[in-house]
Amino acid sequence: MTIAVENPLRAGSRLENMPQPATLVIFGATGDLMKRKLVPALYNLSIDGYLPPNSQIVGFARREWSDEYFRSEMCEGVQEHSRRPFDPAVWEGFAPRLHYLRSEFDNAEGYDQLRTMLDRFDKENGTGGSRLFYLSTPPSYYPVIVERLGEAGLSGRNIAKESGYTRIIIEKPFGHDLESARALNDHLHQVFAEEQIYRIDHYLGKETVQNILVLRFANGIFEPIWNRHYIDHVQITNAESIGIEGRGRFYEESGALRDMVQSHILQLLNLVAMEPPVAFDATPVRDEKVKLLRSIRPIRGNLVPEQVVRGQYGGGVAAGKDVTPYHEEENVSSESTTETYVAMKLFIDNFRWQGVPFYLRTGKALTKRVTEIAIQFKQPPLSIFGSEASRDMEPNVLALRIQPDEGISLKMQVKAPGTGIHIRPVKMEFRYGGSFGIEPPEAYERLLLDCMLGDSTLFTRSDEVETAWSLVTDILQAWSKMPPPNFPNYEAGSWGPRDADRLLYRDNREWRWP
Ligand code: BG6
Repeated sequence: MTIAVENPLRAGSRLENMPQPATLVIFGATGDLMKRKLVPALYNLSIDGYLPPNSQIVGFARREWSDEYFRSEMCEGVQEHSRRPFDPAVWEGFAPRLHYLRSEFDNAEGYDQLRTMLDRFDKENGTGGSRLFYLSTPPSYYPVIVERLGEAGLSGRNIAKESGYTRIIIEKPFGHDLESARALNDHLHQVFAEEQIYRIDHYLGKETVQNILVLRFANGIFEPIWNRHYIDHVQITNAESIGIEGRGRFYEESGALRDMVQSHILQLLNLVAMEPPVAFDATPVRDEKVKLLRSIRPIRGNLVPEQVVRGQYGGGVAAGKDVTPYHEEENVSSESTTETYVAMKLFIDNFRWQGVPFYLRTGKALTKRVTEIAIQFKQPPLSIFGSEASRDMEPNVLALRIQPDEGISLKMQVKAPGTGIHIRPVKMEFRYGGSFGIEPPEAYERLLLDCMLGDSTLFTRSDEVETAWSLVTDILQAWSKMPPPNFPNYEAGSWGPRDADRLLYRDNREWRWP
């Protein structure tokens, strides 16, 4: 059955509001994110009518680019990465709204020029004083950009609502550990109010991630069994078949724990495990998320080697492609101890989840690209059909497939056809693609639109980001005191290190093969 949806971004009353015209300033606009994600998202938003025609886009970066060159690079980006096919006629209307401003990020003059430009757009294009700053530079530049924006009088603080809005989006990584995340928050708060700050985690913009809350809270049948009485354990898998793709410099400073667990994986965990918020609005949703993160039992000291496994890929073939061992990648030390894989077991100390293990794993250069959350239910208390009939019985598993082949499946037991009783597992499946027959908007479309509308529900609040860092920092500190790991310890194209399997074997469980 195909379910008709006119425009997925328009569906739902929240989006009856249209964004006001604004100028979007993207710092670091010559980078990969702009070309691959941001400009294609803006192009698609403009086709959907969500980027008012007078809105302007300014790329602020250090390279010697002209407006024309900037436009031609962005055109390439749209041609290669837009979810809708490139349409030259649409591009002709879109391109003149792109402007380039060359400046060092710490140069006050650049910000004076920016202010003049913004004022001009307000007068000539009717952008009404509304500004959205997007920090997509290496994170070390965040503090200075924020400071210069403040000095140039561009913080928009204490400005009447009628004079437009000023908001700032911060790309991840938001800090490097708890201390640096706190310092960055303090820095931001000196210039911007918390309501103006949008910390982005693109996983929250994914349709299937948002659907976790819909599945849990818009269906009557799941919530009563969504707890320790019925659930045996939860597995969250985020596997990538690609390696680090030339990002050696960034990755050496980061590693999988910081890059994926602190942000995306904890977000997934949060949406599966949080209590129902009183409404799907920024404050109630984010209050519940912080509460959940605070209920996670910290993993410290000796518990770290017991509950956390790290790995680094060697050579091999993943998804049909040869993979260079991590430590031979460009800008990676041959002795690198940076982890490209993490698996962990954690517990949530609250009434709902007490005693239920959550197993999380994420890694690069694994067998295939897949992200899923599997909720495994407890077995029936007694098998009345006898051991022979029940030989192939498996526990019920509700699997939420985040990507690719987005969907939901429920594994159940049925009687295999025949005269005797033989029980077999079968899957009931729902697939987004097949059911709705349309491609969902990209995460960045949704998130940019939300920010323009002033809806911060899907963005991370300062206390949330700090609580997530606190959990991760405990592990980082324990690792720093342990002897260096024996890397590489998994072959590219495998499912990760053996120790990750042992983490579950010890509990008489095993990882799924999604
Ligand atoms: C980014 C990480 O935040 O997310 C990357 O920095 C990772 O290392 C990427 O590859 C994964 O995103 P997605 O949407 O492809 O699952």
